[in-house]
Amino acid sequence: MGSLPALIAVLALVVTLVLVVAYTLATGVSPMPTGRAARASLLGELPADIGGTVFELGAGWGGLAAALARRYPTRSVVGYELSPVPWLFAALGRWCTGPANLTLRRADFLRADLSPAALVVCYLCPAGMARLRPKLEAELRPGSVVVSHFFALPGWRPDEPVVRAADAARSPIYRYRFPRCLARTVAPGGEPGRNP
Ligand SMILES: C[S@@+](CC[C@H](N)C(=O)[O-])C[C@H]1O[C@@H](n2cnc3c(N)ncnc32)[C@H](O)[C@@H]1O
Repeated sequence: MGSLPALIAVLALVVTLVLVVAYTLATGVSPMPTGRAARASLLGELPADIGGTVFELGAGWGGLAAALARRYPTRSVVGYELSPVPWLFAALGRWCTGPANLTLRRADFLRADLSPAALVVCYLCPAGMARLRPKLEAELRPGSVVVSHFFALPGWRPDEPVVRAADAARSPIYRYRFPRCLARTVAPGGEPGRNP
C-alpha cells in the first residue's frame, strides 16, 4: 500500500513526458523557452506602445507571455499553446501571479483570428515559420509588428540590423513591420524580385 503514492507519481511523470514528446512531434516544435539573454534582446526590440492586441504564438511555459503582458499592461496579451503540459503550467502561473491582461488559450494558433494583432511574437522552427507566413500575410493589418526569436520568416525582409542576443548561440531576433517587410528586393541582376 505504501508504494501506491510512488506508483502514482511515476505514472504521472510518464504521462507528462509522453504528452510533451507527442505534442513536440505533432507540432514539430519542442516547448523550449526563450533564454534569459534572448528574452532581454527580444523585449528590447519591441515598440514602446502598440494600438491593439499582442499575440504570442506558441507560448510554451508562459514566461515570455507573462513578460509581454507586464510590458504592455494596458493591452490584451493572448498566448496560444497547443501542448497541454506547458499550457497547464503557464495557466497555473497566470492564475497564481497574473498578469490580469494575459489570456492563455490551449489552441492551434493556425486556426486563430490574428486580425486584431498589433504585435505578434514567436519562437518556432523553420517549417512552423513557413506555415505561419501566409496566415500573417492574409490577416495582419498595416502597421503590425512581428518579432521572431531565432527563426526568420521566409521571404520577409527584417528591419536592419538584425539584433543578436548575448547568448552562446548569438540568437538572432528578427523584427518585421507589416507590410513593409514584403517590399520587393532588387536582385543582383537589377530585376526587382520577390524576397526568396
Ligand atoms: C520553442 S517553444 C517557445 C515558447 C515561448 N514562446 C518562449 O519563447 O519561451 C514553441 C511552442 O510553440 C508551440 N506550438 C507550435 N505550433 C503550435 C501551434 N500551431 N499552435 C499552438 N502552439 C504551437 C509548441 O507546443 C511549443 O511549446
